[in-house]
Amino acid sequence: MGLLAAGFFPLFARSHKKGYTHPVRAITLKLRSRSALSCMPTKRFYSVLFFILCFSLLAATAQTNNQDAESHPWWQHAVFYEIYPRSFADSNNDGIGDLNGIASKLDYLKNLGVDAIWISPCFPSPQVDFGYDVSDYENIDPMYGTLADFDHLQKDASQHGIHIILDFVLNHTSDQHPWFLDSKSSRTSAQRDWYIWRDGKGPGQPPNNWLSDFGGSAWQFDSTANQYYYHYFYPQQPDLNWRNPEVKDAMFDVTRWWYKRGVSGFRLDAVDTLFEDPNLHDNPVLPGKNAFGDAREINKYNDKLPEVHDVLRGLRNIADQYNAVLIGETWTNDIAELNRYYGHNHDELQLPMDFLFTMVNKLSPAEFRKQIAAVNSASGWPTFVISNHDIVRSYDRYGDAVHDDQIAKLMAGLYLTLRGTPIIYYGEEIGMKTTPPTRKEDVKDPIGRRGWPKEKGRDGERTPMQWDESTNAGFSKAKPWLPVPPTYKTHNVADESKDPNSVLSFYRSVLKLRHTNQALLDGDYVPLNEDDQKVLSYLRLYKDQAVLVVLNMSGVWQKVGFDLSKHGFSSANPLIATEKSSVHHGSGGGNVVTLGPYGVFIGQLSK
Ligand code: NOJ
Repeated sequence: MGLLAAGFFPLFARSHKKGYTHPVRAITLKLRSRSALSCMPTKRFYSVLFFILCFSLLAATAQTNNQDAESHPWWQHAVFYEIYPRSFADSNNDGIGDLNGIASKLDYLKNLGVDAIWISPCFPSPQVDFGYDVSDYENIDPMYGTLADFDHLQKDASQHGIHIILDFVLNHTSDQHPWFLDSKSSRTSAQRDWYIWRDGKGPGQPPNNWLSDFGGSAWQFDSTANQYYYHYFYPQQPDLNWRNPEVKDAMFDVTRWWYKRGVSGFRLDAVDTLFEDPNLHDNPVLPGKNAFGDAREINKYNDKLPEVHDVLRGLRNIADQYNAVLIGETWTNDIAELNRYYGHNHDELQLPMDFLFTMVNKLSPAEFRKQIAAVNSASGWPTFVISNHDIVRSYDRYGDAVHDDQIAKLMAGLYLTLRGTPIIYYGEEIGMKTTPPTRKEDVKDPIGRRGWPKEKGRDGERTPMQWDESTNAGFSKAKPWLPVPPTYKTHNVADESKDPNSVLSFYRSVLKLRHTNQALLDGDYVPLNEDDQKVLSYLRLYKDQAVLVVLNMSGVWQKVGFDLSKHGFSSANPLIATEKSSVHHGSGGGNVVTLGPYGVFIGQLSK
């Protein structure tokens, strides 16, 4: 299912870091030079050498895998943070964010509790889809800086203990990529078959009925050789032909190139759409029209084809050589589909995103319970997101205009305490609000111009980060590429850092707890009080430790009783509780948690 079909838009190893020296090799070299100075190595010398080598090997393995004592790969305990680079921080004051801007905010990110940043595409691009149309996979777009800036960011992030994840746009390139320019030059060009070219059915008639996710036919006629090329997204984003082994090799090499530069993984864009039916069967058509006025289709023949998994296994094989992580933009319809992305042998994506979680668009304990249980039953480690650069921010999706900040804390209390890896979208931690353009002429996202007014595009969730109360929210001294929302006066990093009750302070305390509390890191998810329609409660249970999480999803006071004895515990001691939330022993011996409207209680259980 495409993004729009999903109904989201409108409402909707690191042994290769630069300067890294392999420990075993370093020690061996040192010993070699020492032994060259002495005459004959003694027997004792060899025993010491043997011991040091064994010890170093163990240390090297641990470092290469970067696993903790419980043998968790690094990305399971890490907190990820998505940065939309145009909008994060502008160091050269041209109104567009850049890599040096990101580097200047690493202290902020570390202090927030972030372990890995996923940077949305920053490669050279005509920017038709703001970077998701790449014209050179092995460089940085000048508007974001240079490769040297990237290396500097990479080194600095590494010193902060922050991994860098890049966004790999692998379904398509820009129509300005040299591969495509060659491909379209003639029917016999060397790279003709790197893209999907077909004859039309007849004059002015595309090869079949497939529609672009961004409106109109998915086929664009090109008069150079009188054929159509296929584009799942904009016409300026021609789909690569992944059935061509040369395409696969070239794209796999791109990932190696960046791993060698120190990146710790990729977020794989639009993986569902890598393959198409070679026989070009028409897609089934449903009644009605979509926001672009096109027929509604089921993407039966151009979405989630089984061949996708061969590519993912190949990419994973390379990723494993660098202890890297692959995150997937996976629009799955159910857990069976999600499981396929982990791979039958856990050999595909480590972190396919569960967007079904974001589809629970109301504060319903029953619906969240159902979705969390489903993801917990999946074959791999869960990945939780509540918002991103394509989805309306959580502040608006769940807010009631009265308790919005409290609801933002409630959502943080949920996705940051679940078993799994959370990905925070920039600005969620300060309660940024979706601020869509009000006039068509102000829209920057092409789908917003095409679909106006039903589809306003994604500008609203991509506005500049709100750093302080100064002009342009401290994002830039120049006019930002998108207007700063008026809420920057009340919701910004500087002010919220000073306020212990702010959304930001709440994020910081939950993330601090999450990094140190074994039950929150590794514990099982155990749902409690499953009939409760107002309050979502669960344990995170790890050996003899447990944390109780209680989330009031209603606007009225709630009192909830817990019998913790069946889990071997007697009381809950508050770790984090929003204003007005508390716990006391009930008369029957259990524990009673009292919560204010949309209140959160997180407590450590004791025996
Ligand atoms: C998914 C990305 O998240 C979205 O922003 C982009 O427009 C499409 N893929 C096309 O690359």
